Amino acid sequence: MIASILCLSAQAGNTSPLLLGNNHAMKRVSVTQRYILLPVQEREDYASIRVLANNQQVQTLNVKLAVDKVDYYVPLDLQRFGINEILLDITFHGDRRFTGAMKDFICWNEMKQSNSFEPKKEEKYNPVYHHTPVYGWMNDPNGMFYKDGVYHLFYQWNPYGSQWENMTWGHSTSRDLIHWEAQPTAIEPDALGSIFSGSCVVDKKNNRVVALYTSDGNKTQVQSMAVSTDGGQTFKKYAGNPVLVSTEADFRDPKAFWNPEVQKWNLILAAGQEMRIYSSADLMDWKYESSFGTGLGCHDGVWECPDLIKLQVRGTDKQKWLLICNINPGGPFGGSATQYFVGEFDGHKFTCEHTDTRWMDYGKDHYATVTFDNAPDGRHIAIAWMSNWQYANQVPTKQFRNANSVPRDLDLFEYQGQTYCGVTPSRELLALRSKTTNKLPQAGEIVVDLKGSAEITLSNQIGEQIVLNYDAKGKTFAMDRTRNYASFSENFPCKTVAPVYGDIRQFRIFIDRSSIEVFDAEGRMSMTNLVFPQEPYNNIKVVGGKATMYEFK
Ligand code: FRU
Repeated sequence: MIASILCLSAQAGNTSPLLLGNNHAMKRVSVTQRYILLPVQEREDYASIRVLANNQQVQTLNVKLAVDKVDYYVPLDLQRFGINEILLDITFHGDRRFTGAMKDFICWNEMKQSNSFEPKKEEKYNPVYHHTPVYGWMNDPNGMFYKDGVYHLFYQWNPYGSQWENMTWGHSTSRDLIHWEAQPTAIEPDALGSIFSGSCVVDKKNNRVVALYTSDGNKTQVQSMAVSTDGGQTFKKYAGNPVLVSTEADFRDPKAFWNPEVQKWNLILAAGQEMRIYSSADLMDWKYESSFGTGLGCHDGVWECPDLIKLQVRGTDKQKWLLICNINPGGPFGGSATQYFVGEFDGHKFTCEHTDTRWMDYGKDHYATVTFDNAPDGRHIAIAWMSNWQYANQVPTKQFRNANSVPRDLDLFEYQGQTYCGVTPSRELLALRSKTTNKLPQAGEIVVDLKGSAEITLSNQIGEQIVLNYDAKGKTFAMDRTRNYASFSENFPCKTVAPVYGDIRQFRIFIDRSSIEVFDAEGRMSMTNLVFPQEPYNNIKVVGGKATMYEFK
């Protein structure tokens, strides 16, 4: 009896794994601190981990556990299980499992416990004023809403690695759309699947915030609902999930909104190559209304992340609807991009008024664009994920991967008898301007006043350069990032070109450590591109215009 107790406790403290086969092992962990830090090696295959507590499975996650080199660590919170000992049941995938070398994988010795987790902040491409997760992978912005002076931004997040996996809703809040504070994880994977993109609405009548999101299960996508009664800080999943199902394989990214014209909630979601529109009185029971998309716009990829908003046409008393349709691949420069349609919507059916394909932003790194629910002053504020699915998993950062664009206000403008989407940097960005500087900032804004064609070149000593070219006669604006570091992906080097609707008199160029966003100050052209200069650009040459530069802190 005494012998067996001793043996058990020795095992509990033992760091060596219990080997169960070529690719299967268990690791007992006696919980002494809040987190276990899991070592990650990005080029390895995923290992599936089942966390067992008291012989119950309490969590599953996929982590690229380090085999012979540690790229970085990710924290698994042990405290939440409220137990002294857990068992990690680990299955390794990929080629390594045939080598019989599992016992020598360095992950066994590198798993460490700690009461804190401090992700390294000092990465050279970590943006200064763009939203990023504190650590880990991020894609689409999700469920953005405004309430009681606070903007809430949720996002597709992998808390266990800097590449896409384990989709969870991360959460950040801000009072000015620029300075974001990290909040506890909002919605975690469950038995219906991982938590894909979706939206939140402020349900004023019932004093609650409701999230509608896609549960991505094993080859099925269904829509689920979660409710917050504390202003979006915590969510409780609805016990009757799912609330909307289909036989369609790609059926996701619900965006709900209150439509005062029909006194109902509407919802738009992506189903393969079309957008489907629904209505509901209670956000739970959804009635199919119509589908949109056949024969219109670009169909060279899967339609994703829709939005549907009513906007003012500048300088008129007209209002029209804008249907946002993100598509991957099929973008104008390869990979993912945001197209849009202008038209009418009567609560049941969206009718597009044009036949040409239109892009909201003519850069290569602008995707999954959606708007905030309930934004103040009737504003329609959009944020885009600032990357492209062609290389988002490979860009040269480590402890975190990917950032969001600066916030932009959307409206509509008319040009030569057509109505287009206007994109203007949100006014909160003006507050970042401090003193002007003569030195090209690493993080700041360059305002260029011009009278006609112009060329702006940013460069560094090692010959990397970005060339921005405005051709007033040809009515195009272009950004060339071909002479830059790009060894992580052959799809990265590119020259992006935008049509220009009317003369541009001023450019606003937002530069951060790894991105450049260019806007026509009047909001008729935007171009968002990533850049990874090996040394900061420290030289600017402007031909045909005058630049004023502001450094942002
Ligand atoms: C778009 C997307 C969505 C999906 C999410 C998964 O980037 O593919 O359609 O919900 O990412 O992370």
